[in-house]
Order: sequence, then C-alpha cells, then structure tokens
Amino acid sequence: MSKNLQNDLLLRAARLEPTQRTPVWMMRQAGRYLPEFRVIRKKVDFLTLCKTPHLAAEVTIQPVDIVGVDAAIIFSDILTIPEAMGLDLEFVSGTGPVFHNPVRIKQDMNNLRTSVLPALEYVGNAIAETVKQLDGRVPVIGFAGAPWTLATYMVEGRSSKKFKIIKTLLYSRPELLESLLERITAETVEYLAMQVEAGADILQIFDSWGGILTPAAFERFSLAPMKNVISGVKARFPDIPVIAFSKGARTHLTELAESGADVLSLDWMVDLGQAREVTKKQVALQGNLDPAILLTDPAVIERETRQMLHSFGTAPGHIANLGHGITPDVPVENARSFVETVKVSSAKYHQTIEQ
Ligand code: CP3
Repeated sequence: MSKNLQNDLLLRAARLEPTQRTPVWMMRQAGRYLPEFRVIRKKVDFLTLCKTPHLAAEVTIQPVDIVGVDAAIIFSDILTIPEAMGLDLEFVSGTGPVFHNPVRIKQDMNNLRTSVLPALEYVGNAIAETVKQLDGRVPVIGFAGAPWTLATYMVEGRSSKKFKIIKTLLYSRPELLESLLERITAETVEYLAMQVEAGADILQIFDSWGGILTPAAFERFSLAPMKNVISGVKARFPDIPVIAFSKGARTHLTELAESGADVLSLDWMVDLGQAREVTKKQVALQGNLDPAILLTDPAVIERETRQMLHSFGTAPGHIANLGHGITPDVPVENARSFVETVKVSSAKYHQTIEQ
C-alpha cells in the first residue's frame, strides 16, 4: 500500500505529527468555479463524468495543478451509494439531486439492493487512475456520505429545507429509520474499504445534515451510524486516517472527538481555538474559513485566512480548509489566494520542529 508521496503534509497533520507548514485543500475543490472543469462538464453530464474514470481523474487533478492544493479529493458524489442501492438518481439543473423513487415505507426499503459494491467499481477505477496520474505528488482523499445524510436524500427524494418527511419517519417509526441506516452503514463500510484498496490515502465522511437534529436524535441517528462506519473501516485499515465533517454540530464536538475519527472538519460557526480546547487536542481539526469570504478580494481573503491560522495557534494537527464547499461563483484567483496565504503564513505556527 505504501506509495512514495512527495507531499504527505495532509497525512501527517491528520496524525497530529509535526509539519513545516499547515496543509490546505478545499471541499468541492474540483468543480464549476474552474473554467477547465466547465469545459469538460459541457461535454458530459455530471453522473457520466463521475462514471468515466479518465475524465474523473482529470478533473480530480485540476485543482492540484491550477490552485496548488495539498491533496486531491476523488471526483464523485455522496449519492453514488443510494443510486447503487436502486434509487433512480437525476441531477436536475436548478433543483439539484432528485430520486424518482424515494424510500417511504417498509416495502421501499425491502426493495433496496444489498452488497452493491460491483455497481460502484467505477469509483475504484477513478481512484486508481488518479493515483497513477498523480504519481505521488499529493495524497488522494476518498469519501462517502454519512448514513444520516444519505438517508435524508433517500427519504425526502431531494434536497430539503425542513426535512418534514424524514423527521416524521424518525419520530413515528424510529426502528424503520434505524434499519435503513444500518443498511446504508454496511454498504458504506464496503465502499470506503474498496476506495482504500484502490489507493485512497485518507477518507472523509460528510454529514451535511446532522445539525438539524435534536441532541438525542443526533446521538442516535447521526452520530451512532457514523461511528459504526468509522469503526468498520478502522477494523480493516487501522492506519488510514478518517476525517469526520458534521456540519452544524458545534454543540457536539466532545462526542465527535470520541467518535473514532482522527480529524474533525469544522464549519465556520466554530472558533478553532475553542474547538481545540473542547476536543482536548485528541483529534486534528480541519477548516474552517467561511466560503463566502472567497467572494471578496485577495486582501480580505489574506486577512481572514491569517486570522483562521492564528485562532488554531501553534501546534501540529491543523488542516486548512473551508467550513463547507467552495461555491461556483468564486474567482479562481481568490481560491488561489486562500491556498497561497496558508502556504506562506502558516510556517511560523510550526517553528518548534524546525530547530
Ligand atoms: O469535493 C470535491 O471536489 C469532490 C466532489 C464532491 C461533489 N459532491 C461533487 C459535486 C463531493 C465531496 C460532494 C459531496 C456532496 N454531494 C455532499 C456533501 C458535502 C456538502 O456539500 O454538504 C452533498 C450533500 C452532495 C449532494 C449533492 N451533489 C448536491 C446537493 C448537489 C447539487 C448542488 C450543487 O452544488 O450543484 C450535488 C451535485 C454536485 N456534486 C456537483 C459537484 C461538482 C455539481 C454538479 C454539476 O456539475 O452540475
């Protein structure tokens, strides 16, 4: 499994090991803000792009070449698993993802496919192709959605604001929801293990919607299945670092620090310094510039990025990133100025190891 990485800053920071500077990448870094991405995206629809390994590898590597990030995240989507389980997925422009046959009743659940790994082989192929083309320049991040976040899309059938359908299910048929989450969890563990076997160096689990739950529901329906995913992966690959991104979960940092994840990815509503205290420096922290700052100008971006580095302070274990995905309207030079500022301004927070 060991490949010679020329830049392993991300992996070392994830393990709380010393580095000469803070590593940096951006959630959704392969995407529409890059003109080079839009050229390819004009020729093929989003799902075809995900399912064509040489194209997926090409757009995965674009931000490494163009913006200078320290890692490549495989170009794919969290909704690949529900699609493989038999849900009919369409990305509708203006609406986002739509499942035409959402899961509402027990019968829908019984109809879901199990052991769906063969249908997801294209993701492994895309990772293998990316690893080959990168030739050790930077690590490759594999990912999956957290079971709760996947369940919201599978039950609601689309992006939701109020989550009325899944919340009704949660309160009236909790055991039914739990069994859906268990099924998603089992598939997700296999899927992430396959990504590691294909060459992913580190994994991120995206729980975009854990933050909409009551504290008790968060524990049972978001955190518990996410922990099961992490322990399932760790049982097979104890040395592969896992990043947990739980958006809106700032009141749950203590539990998340004990989830088994090596890194917590934080949204911008958390102060990094306070998060370090709350998590007792047990885990590395990733984040957390407000993505809206990238809509301003390089001077503001530099000031705010320095402030973010300062709030984490002097220590290993910070991975600079945004608090959520980069948006399509960000000028490329602004993304570059975020990455450059981290590279130039973070060395002084790591001085202790240079002597
Ligand atoms: O980070 C990366 O560059 C890797 C690729 C990646 C995508 N989606 C590509 C994508 C990753 C890691 C995701 C994760 C994802 N997908 C999440 C979790 C992170 C988060 O944002 O909270 C979620 C909830 C999804 C589901 C999803 N996929 C939605 C809601 C949408 C539509 C919204 C939008 O941005 O258009 C997508 C589509 C999607 N996934 C696009 C990309 C580049 C845009 C599709 C296009 O090109 O038309």
